[in-house]
Order: sequence, then C-alpha cells, then structure tokens
Amino acid sequence: MSFAVRHLKLNNFRNFAHLELDIPPGFTILTGQNAQGKTSILESLYWLSTTRMLRGVRDAEAIRQGEHACVVEAELVTGTHISATLEAGARKKFFLNGASLPRASDVIGRLPSVVISIFDLEIVRGDPSDRRMFLDIELSSLYPAYLRHLSIYKRALEQRNALLKMAQERQIDGFSFDTWEEPLAKEGAQIRRIRTEYIDSLAPRVTSLHQQLSSQPEFLALRYSMKDEALTEEALLQRLQTTRGADIHRGSTQIGPHRDDIEILVDEKEARLFGSQGQQRTAVIALKLGTLEMAKEHLGEAPLLLLDDMLSDLDAERRARLCHVVASEAGQAILTCTEASAAGEEILDRSKVYSVQQGVVTAP
Ligand SMILES: Nc1ncnc2c1ncn2[C@@H]1O[C@H](COP(=O)(O)OP(=O)(O)O)[C@@H](O)[C@H]1O
Ligand SMILES: [Mg+2]
Repeated sequence: MSFAVRHLKLNNFRNFAHLELDIPPGFTILTGQNAQGKTSILESLYWLSTTRMLRGVRDAEAIRQGEHACVVEAELVTGTHISATLEAGARKKFFLNGASLPRASDVIGRLPSVVISIFDLEIVRGDPSDRRMFLDIELSSLYPAYLRHLSIYKRALEQRNALLKMAQERQIDGFSFDTWEEPLAKEGAQIRRIRTEYIDSLAPRVTSLHQQLSSQPEFLALRYSMKDEALTEEALLQRLQTTRGADIHRGSTQIGPHRDDIEILVDEKEARLFGSQGQQRTAVIALKLGTLEMAKEHLGEAPLLLLDDMLSDLDAERRARLCHVVASEAGQAILTCTEASAAGEEILDRSKVYSVQQGVVTAP
C-alpha cells in the first residue's frame, strides 16, 4: 500500500483557474513571491486529506472568486483517485475512484498528511482548545474509531449541558442526568485512553527531535494533563456525579476530555508562557515531526509532509538542522519557500522545483 500522490488537478480552487501538477514520490519545492498560490496548493491536498481547509479558512473560500464551484483531484501512485467538489451554497462532496462517499469524513485516512505551517504555532502559543484540536485531528486520521467516540461524546456533552441549564430553573431528576453521564463517561474514558497512550509514545520522539533541531541543549517534555485523573469509565462517571451540583451552578460540564490539555515544557517551563519565538517555533516543528513518526509507524509508511514557509524565518543553523531532520524523516514532502536555496543542498539535490506565479505553475 502506498499513499504517495502522483498528480494533482485543481479547478477554480483559490487563485487557480486550472492546474495540472505532476508530483514526484520524493521531495517537491514550490517557490515564488508572496500571494502567488504556494500555500493554496498545500491547502488543496490538506483538504483531500482531512476535509478541512488550513488556517481556519471556511470551505466557501476555496471557490475561486467569481466562480460557482471548485474541484480538487489527486491521483495516488496506486492509481487511486480522491477528489472533492464544492458548489457555492451546497455541501462539499468527496469521491473515491469516482464514487461519492456517504460522509465527508469517510475520506479521512486515504491520503494521510502532516502539515507544518506558522498557524501551527497556536498549538504551543494558543489555548487548550488549540491543543485539543491538534490531538483530535491527528487521532481521527489515525483511528477511525476515535472520531466516533468523539462525536458520541460531543452529543452527550451538549445534552448534559442543556440539562444543567434547565436544572438552574427547575428540578431535574437524577435519572435524566444518568442518561447522558453514562455515555459521557464511557466515551470520555476511551478518548482519554487513546489520547494518553498517543502522548506517551509521542513524547520521547518529540524530545529527541527537539534535541536534533535545537542549537542549544534544551529539553522539551510533553504531558497530557487532566484536572481530575479519571482514566476509567467508572472513575469518570463518579466524578461527573459528584460535580453535578457545581456544574448546575456553572451551567456547563467542568471535567472531561473536552477540558484537558497538553503541557509543553521547555526546560521545565511552559513554552506557551515562557518560550521565545524561536523556541516556540522549534517546539512546534518537533511536535509535528513527532506526529509524522507516529503516523509512519502506524501506517507503515510516512504520510505526506506539507511544510509551508517554515524555512525563511529561521537562522542558518536552525534551518540546516531542520532540513537535515526533514530529509531523514520524510517520505514524500512538499515544501514552500520564496527561494529554493532556502531548502539547502541536501533537500534541493533530491527535489523537483516548481515556481508558482499568479496561479500558474512552471518548472524552471
Ligand atoms: N477563493 C479565491 N479566489 C481567488 N483568489 C483567492 C482565493 N482565495 C485566495 N486567493 C488569493 O490567492 C493568492 C494566493 O494565496 P497563497 O496560496 O496564500 O499564496 P502564497 O502561499 O504563494 O503566498 C492570494 O493573493 C489570495 O488572496
Ligand atoms: Mg503561503
């Protein structure tokens, strides 16, 4: 089985009217000035991979201005075709070998990818919700069951929260709460189990990658953190029952995986609060390359690495280190930068270079 992409085709996607692009199984570099369409190409692949646009962009913005629909299509080296279409005002649709998939999420896992862009800095710098979203996206792409646990959990959480609010106005019997706390505890424990196991095997990899990327001897540690330590269904159910009164007062559920976080520590200090720009950037890159290693182990092959504009703002030494790690970790990779030389000889020697200019791609 192989996931590598061989060909990408875009129609009215972002600033591309039409694009046909051959992608080699190894490394591709997309160069060009700002606002030419480099990131949009990565975004189209990410869309097929995850059903999401990058950088929190709404799906509607995928359609080229003035057009009514867009199409993204990738052909893998196996001959598999994956495509997505979006018509203005309608729902996006995903297709596998021409057959429409019942749900968009059914496409997840067909074209696994890891993206690293400046928007990922939010994983280190942002709120706990940014880190949970990072975990949820990674884990849903690795384990289809995770997405199911998550959606049942979310539904039960909404129901319990609605009950909590009602209980502020009138008496609600305990039985009604049980109806939602049971699935919350059951799914919540599964979610926490999958997340903690993932972080436990991710952490040493990220620590080691971080050491390879850093120019100073710094130590990065990752930890899954919960306010309560309820890892089993029974323990979580009990916690939900005992905090019910306080939750009614607040009108929302205070414990559970929807409140958990990942601690990211550099030399035992929280990178979110105390890290310099450079440290935060290195931490994110290490974290993302760690997920690449995890996915590689899970899939038996490295997923597609999309490295967006990460080379330009690094000093020469950090950049050389990053290029070296990428060259040894990645399978297929697409990198964007303003100058191809930023990728360094080690990568450049084995890359196909394209230049992107106003939605037109040429091989110089
Ligand atoms: N739906 C759209 N229709 C037309 N142009 C778009 C659309 N979405 C984005 N653009 C434009 O496409 C250009 C390319 O953006 P981007 O891929 O981020 O460029 P780069 O990564 O090369 O800097 C930008 O000028 C952006 O404004
Ligand atoms: Mg860009």
